[in-house]
Amino acid sequence: MQMAVAALGSVPAPPQAAIASAHPAATSAGREILEAGGNAFDAAIAVAAALAVVEPYSSGIGGGGFFLLHRAADGHETMIDAREKAPAAATVDMYLDERGEFVRERSLNGPLSSAIPGTPAGLVHLADHYGRLSLKESLEPAIRLATNGFIVKARYHRMARFRQSAMVVYPSTAAIFLGDDNHAELGEVIKQPDLANTLRLLAEQGTAGFYRGEIGYRLIAGVRAHGGIWTQKDLNDYEVVEREPVIINYGGIRIVTAPPPSSGGVAMAEAFNILSQFDLGAMTPNTRRHIVIEAMRRAYRDRAEYLGDPDHVEIPLAQLLSVDYAKFLAGDISIDHATPSEALRPIGVSKGEDTTHFSVLDTQGNRVAATLSVNYPFGAVFVPDGTGVLLNNEMDDFSARPMTPNAYGLVGVDANAIAPGKRPLSSMTPTFLETGNRVGILGTPGGSRIISMVMIGILDFASGNKPESWVRAKRYHHQYLPDEVQFELGGLTKDEQLDLRQRGHRLRENNRNYGNMHAILWRQSKGEVSAASDPRGEGSADVFDVSIAHQR
Ligand code: DON
Repeated sequence: MQMAVAALGSVPAPPQAAIASAHPAATSAGREILEAGGNAFDAAIAVAAALAVVEPYSSGIGGGGFFLLHRAADGHETMIDAREKAPAAATVDMYLDERGEFVRERSLNGPLSSAIPGTPAGLVHLADHYGRLSLKESLEPAIRLATNGFIVKARYHRMARFRQSAMVVYPSTAAIFLGDDNHAELGEVIKQPDLANTLRLLAEQGTAGFYRGEIGYRLIAGVRAHGGIWTQKDLNDYEVVEREPVIINYGGIRIVTAPPPSSGGVAMAEAFNILSQFDLGAMTPNTRRHIVIEAMRRAYRDRAEYLGDPDHVEIPLAQLLSVDYAKFLAGDISIDHATPSEALRPIGVSKGEDTTHFSVLDTQGNRVAATLSVNYPFGAVFVPDGTGVLLNNEMDDFSARPMTPNAYGLVGVDANAIAPGKRPLSSMTPTFLETGNRVGILGTPGGSRIISMVMIGILDFASGNKPESWVRAKRYHHQYLPDEVQFELGGLTKDEQLDLRQRGHRLRENNRNYGNMHAILWRQSKGEVSAASDPRGEGSADVFDVSIAHQR
């Protein structure tokens, strides 16, 4: 992997700060912390914790994720890997029945589907190593939100209905998120006193307040009483890891993005290196789209074969990131015809919505791109009694059986097989972009489609457009298997569809829009900051002055 190197040139500070997140209450929590003298890293704690309260279907302290950081003072770039880890008692075939068939229910619902949470340790690490304020100060807005409650809006309502039948199996969990009558009505206020208490203990005691003591005990008791396999040792052993970002150069853009155990950076590196072999600017938009799809197909193929937790498997990174390899892969792309996925090198198997993204820029130039998750909407739909902590079902991101698709249709082999203490492979791709006079911050939820969405956002940045345009850009996707171009409702015009069909692509239009991208642009040359929230979601983007007098 390339070494993390300092950002391009020496740059002035941004004239304004910006925050874009999936919920207005989270954006204002971050603003409150910046205005109280915090930096972007403190604000990221406040935003992440607030989202854990108001967007429980997407992320939370029972989940995990990645925080990509850029520190302005010295150009230090790193990714805090707060991804969940499999418990020590996890086994390679834990979701298979006696006949070896995959039982999806076991990897999706209830605490057997939950990996050891990483977000609490991530927030503590951020405060200890990067923040200016105490963890207590930065968690205060979230504790207030959990205590006072938030109002159910359309998105929450839709997600709650989607997971209602699974959640009612756990009545004390349903009582928190669906209310007494098991329906989260629009306008209903959801208060989470237990979560407020857990956040308070985390604020006061750091990791010990969550992974040990009263909360640790209750987490283990609740998980084990309902078929889970966590132990106190699993909680004691959880640690975040700082990892060097993947750095790609594409058409003069320096792309700083997520390394393994995310597949995002490596897959994007392959795809962009393939695109660099073509003169996209000289092509018609239809041909360009076809080439982008072929690059996605090849990158997702390698994701399935090679990628997994780098602490457990040998990943041939030098090969996957090399330009020579991209030239080889580009060699069999036809300008006119789709390559059937089955015509690519076969993957040897013999050797055995919801998530959230937010972006922050402070007036020093510090940046955070964070993508956090509990995996499926409302994760495992299970809260251990007395904790308020909704657990993730991130175990489903492992490949439960070679080449058997997970909930996002993704396949994998040994590299992403279940093993004790291993992190499941992710697609979450928080990303920074730099050209020397423009800095971009972006990312999105969306399971397997995260990588293609971020790619489409980057291509729009490359065309010189602003965040309003990146977050709106129509979305299409290819993930090798199934061998089809997926696209969001209305994502391709009839003519565009016809063009792809004529080239031999199979198409599938989703019945909805997808993604929820929140992005920031700082135009250094113009001293201008702008931000945008995906119109498909309910988020908010805020650009505001922070008086230097407030900066400690
Ligand atoms: O880490 C991953 O790739 C998945 N757990 C992300 C899930 C997700 O984005 C769901 N959102 N729609």
